[in-house]
Amino acid sequence: MSIIRSVVAGCGSYLPERVVTNQDMTKIVDTTDDWIVERTGIHARHIAADGELTSDLALKAARAAIAHAGIDAQEIDTIILATTTPDNTFPATAVTVQAELGIHHGAAFDIQAVCSGFVYALTIADTFIRCGQAKTVLVIGAETFSRLLDWTDRTTCVLFGDGAGAVIVKAGEGEGTNADRGILTAHLHSDGRYKDKLYVDGGPSSTQTTGHVRMEGREVFRHAVVNIADTIKEALAATGLTANDIDWFVPHQANKRILDGTAKRIGLPPEKVVITVGDHGNTSAASVPLALDQAIKDGRIKRGDLVLLEAMGGGFTWGSVLVRW
Ligand code: ACO
Repeated sequence: MSIIRSVVAGCGSYLPERVVTNQDMTKIVDTTDDWIVERTGIHARHIAADGELTSDLALKAARAAIAHAGIDAQEIDTIILATTTPDNTFPATAVTVQAELGIHHGAAFDIQAVCSGFVYALTIADTFIRCGQAKTVLVIGAETFSRLLDWTDRTTCVLFGDGAGAVIVKAGEGEGTNADRGILTAHLHSDGRYKDKLYVDGGPSSTQTTGHVRMEGREVFRHAVVNIADTIKEALAATGLTANDIDWFVPHQANKRILDGTAKRIGLPPEKVVITVGDHGNTSAASVPLALDQAIKDGRIKRGDLVLLEAMGGGFTWGSVLVRW
């Protein structure tokens, strides 16, 4: 039986030039390199320059993904940009990217699921493609998360960074088996009972300010490992595959301890886990495509590999996507 599959045709990413090390952070808040490394695995993060916007990072990642896919930008009929840090409250940052790419057809919109944003956006792209709504989708995760940080709060400001990653997803044909190239299964979740565990204390409707990130770190940690492991089990159950079948695990890069805990819980050896949190920090919606791009460009992820993506973030929101490269 021939079915439509959403095939990842190319990937790209961009990190701002400025690197802020843990040593640099000790000059800003009362912290140490040892504390940050031991609790999070983070050594450094990239921070956008003054005047460098989320759309600037997104555009660079998008151009890299378009080049990697070897397509003409005019083939793109849908742009989905996941971000918590849009250039403006409206219009969507996606339309700025659309205009900069010279695309005047199709649809461009943002989605907001915080750190799960890229997994949400990729799942929407897959649904659009399988329904025949779209044929070539540019999916971007881009953040200037540093702009939401309270730089006097050591419990949050050491954790995050800025960056962007993007993929091109194209309609392809498959046989409806796990050997098909493309997205094999995708699962999204949210549970708003936990919306106060990780949030920003401002917004257009509430305070008319942007606000700052607030978080109950331990609660987030506790839920993250359980929720992520559950959605991975869900992806494996939906396809009849096992953890042994996974070639590469590309998780949301929040904290190395969360990654290690999750991999252990689902029985994945550390050498199959792509980890970039040490150099990037948590870049929210950008973290999964940034990690993906690194593993593709350094030759780890190859055509035909089974790649498991997952993320969890504020809301709580979480989800997984299993894709045959
Ligand atoms: N430097 C030095 N000391 C610090 C720092 C810091 N940057 N931050 C907190 N501390 C202190 C605290 O004040 C506290 O001191 P006290 O005992 O004197 O009160 C002590 O360290 C322990 O604080 P905890 O918050 O209990 O530390 P914990 O071991 O829970 O680690 C952390 C904190 C790293 C935030 C952890 O809870 C965590 O990783 N949670 C997950 C959060 C996360 O990853 N969020 C990202 C967004 S969500 C997502 O993407 C999944």
